[in-house]
This record gives sequence, C-alpha cells and structure tokens, in this order.
Amino acid sequence: MSHSAGQLPVSLPPHFAYSSGQLHIDGVELDALARAHGTPLFVYSKAAMLSALSAYQRGLKGRDHQICYAMKANSTLAILQTLVQAGCGLDIVSGGELERALTAGVAPSKVIFSGVGKTRPEMRRALEVGIGCFNVESTAELDVLDEVARGMGLRAPVSIRVNPNVDPKTHPYISTGLKGNKFGIAHEEVLATYRHAAACSGLRVVGIDCHIGSQITEAAPYMDAMDRMLDLVDAIEAAGIPIEHLDLGGGLGIDYNGETPPDAGALWQALLQKLDTRGYGQRKIVIEPGRSLVGNAGACLTEVLYLKPGEQKNFLIVDAAMNDLPRPAMYQAFHKIVPLSPRDALAMKTWDVVGPVCESGDWIGRDRALDVQAGDRLAVLAAGAYCMSMASNYNTRGRAAEVLVDGGTSTLIRMRESTADQLRLESLLPVA
Ligand code: LLP
Repeated sequence: MSHSAGQLPVSLPPHFAYSSGQLHIDGVELDALARAHGTPLFVYSKAAMLSALSAYQRGLKGRDHQICYAMKANSTLAILQTLVQAGCGLDIVSGGELERALTAGVAPSKVIFSGVGKTRPEMRRALEVGIGCFNVESTAELDVLDEVARGMGLRAPVSIRVNPNVDPKTHPYISTGLKGNKFGIAHEEVLATYRHAAACSGLRVVGIDCHIGSQITEAAPYMDAMDRMLDLVDAIEAAGIPIEHLDLGGGLGIDYNGETPPDAGALWQALLQKLDTRGYGQRKIVIEPGRSLVGNAGACLTEVLYLKPGEQKNFLIVDAAMNDLPRPAMYQAFHKIVPLSPRDALAMKTWDVVGPVCESGDWIGRDRALDVQAGDRLAVLAAGAYCMSMASNYNTRGRAAEVLVDGGTSTLIRMRESTADQLRLESLLPVA
C-alpha cells in the first residue's frame, strides 16, 4: 500500500510511488511532466515493460520460443522499438500495423499476422517483406492467401487459428475462444481445414494457434486450451501434416482493481510441464501477449477542470475523456484514479470522474473518493494498454501526447495532435 497525507490508501502498480507528496514513475515526478507537456498526457515506464517481458522470458527460458507482442495493445513506435530491442517479435492485425512494425525495426520473420479480415493488398505486402506466419481464420481466407502467394511465386507460411471453445471467464466483448465468437475455426473442422491447406501449392503449414480472450485472470482456461490444441495436433500430424510451432495467443490479465492473474513465468512453467507430459516438450512455442506487457507500465495524466457537486452525484470534470480512455465507456472497465499531489483529505468527497465529451457514456471512474480542487492533476492508472491505441478524434479532440521514462530521464515519444493535424486530410467543397 502506498498512500500519502490522508488520501485513501491505494495500491499502486510497480514503478509508481509517492515521495515527498508527489507521485513518481521510476523516480520522475509526474506533475513536472504534466506541467512540461500539458494534459492529457500518457506516461510509460520502460523498466516496467521490460520487467513484464522478463516474466515471460523466465517462464520460457531454455525452450525454442518467440514472444510476439500484440501491438494492438499499444502501437506507438518507441514502445514497439523498446520491446523489439528486447527480443520480441510482433503480432499484427493490419497493413498499418505492419508498416509500424517495420518502421520500429522488427525482423519481418518475427512478425505474425492475425485477424479475420486480411485484404489482398495486406497479404501481398506481408509476403513481399517475408513475415514469419499468417494466422488464418477461415477457409475462404486460406484460398485467397493461396492465390495471392501463387501469383507472386511464393508459398505463404500459415497457421490455422482454432477455436478451442473454452470459457476464458472474462468480459463478453473481449472473450474470443467460445463457439459463438467470430474468431477461429471450430474444433470439428480443423483437421479438414489443415488437409485443405496442405494441398494448396501457395501455402506452407507451419503452425497452429488459438487465442481465447483477453484480461484472463486464471490459469485453468489456458491449460484447457493447450490440451485441446494438442489433441488437434495429434490428429493433424497423424494425417501426415507436421506442425512446427504451437501459438497459444495472448490474453493474460493485469491488476486493474485487485485482480490476481497468475504470474506469466509461473503460468508458462505449468504449461510447459503439460507439453512435456504430452510429448511436445521440444516444440517451438509462440505467444502473443499484449496487455500484460504494457498495461501496468502506463498512466494517463489529466487536469481537473471543474468541480460540479450535485444533489445526486458530484461530478469531477477533467480534461481527459472517452476519446483518450475508451475502456470505461466500452467495457465498463475500471481504472484506478489517484492524485499526483495528494491534499490533506479534509474535503474528501465521492466523485464521478467525467470528461468534456458530449455523451453520458463519457466517464472515466464512478464513485471515487478524492480530495481535489480545480487545477489539481490526477493519474488514471493501468492505462498503458488499449488506451492510446484506441484513442479517437471524437469531438475534434486531438490525441494526447506520450512520454517514455527510462532510468530517470523522460522522452517525448509522440507529440500532441493539433487541430491542424486533424484538418489536413479534409477539403471544403469548391465555392459555387
Ligand atoms: N492475439 C490475438 C489474436 C488477439 O486478438 C489479441 C487481443 C491478442 C493476441 C492480445 O491479447 P492481450 O494479451 O492484450 O489480452 N480492447 C480490449 C481488448 C481487446 C483484445 C483483442 N485481442 C480492452 O481494452 O480490454
């Protein structure tokens, strides 16, 4: 527990701490960053990301493996670069992400391409640069990829995404491995799909993959998914189609509000034990973690604009909004909100923290006990994943700036988007 003068005790993510009445990230004062760069401002700890990565690296040590960071979680170039330099490949889902990945310096062979709706131009570009694997989600997609690859005189490396039909016990919008989801190929059809792929001269089967959902806080769904995937590998290899790698996707959760997900290293130790028992100990492992690498490494700093106490509710109006932090509005997600410079808590009140966007859904936190005044600054925690990458320009709000803190120094890694940046692509109609 870290708290300061009177504010309710809140446990902070690693790398965040109060000292001399000020919230710091790796020793850098957050209020000073907010003053220097303005708000809303995303701030990330490089050390926190590398430490999250090292938990996976510890778990998979000594095994043939590739960690492909799911860059949809946060695709800012400097963050990709940080993880790529630490050995990560990248899991991409669009041509845009591919260009970001290449700009960040990833080796194309360490890129895997996920997603249900890859277009022909996206396939062509990915083949041209030589990505490591296409994670294919339907027979129709296999056929198009086969045709595109043959047209280029190439064979596309493929893995088929299986839908293991296990319940990851998470929010329905971020659960992907159940029968009713649009993702993957149903268990019963997987073998036939592999036979089909193996018969296509433009395809080369290299792996099998699944991804059961996101913000998973228990080990059991992973153990089940691995078992089901191995049952399929038994059958596919018995049919004479070798599988080089097993890709278990991403999905490991983080602590937003007291959740206790398994440690990545411990989870992988248990999964590897299962692989050993089932005779797959030497097989190459691929994983696609997103949130668990970056989520708790970042915070969004915001300034209190107005206090609006009311009969039923007290509203705290801040300068960050649903366009910056879309997760509460989209998934009713919880993010802790803490002051950068706590007061004495003499005027502690319960507030709904809301943004300036014209929607009732524009809230960031509900019923939060805070002692604040206009002009105070707050940190919205666990904002490293699926915040900046999902930010929009709704209400013609420019997207926030981002800063990366590394060993006591801070670097602006993304400038605040100006209104001119937003207007640049539009044109007025000619005057009649
Ligand atoms: N691989 C595939 C195929 C995925 O679809 C995803 C996430 C990942 C890997 C990475 O999952 P992670 O380790 O980050 O859980 N916007 C939502 C999360 C959507 C996740 C979509 N797929 C949120 O803010 O909670």
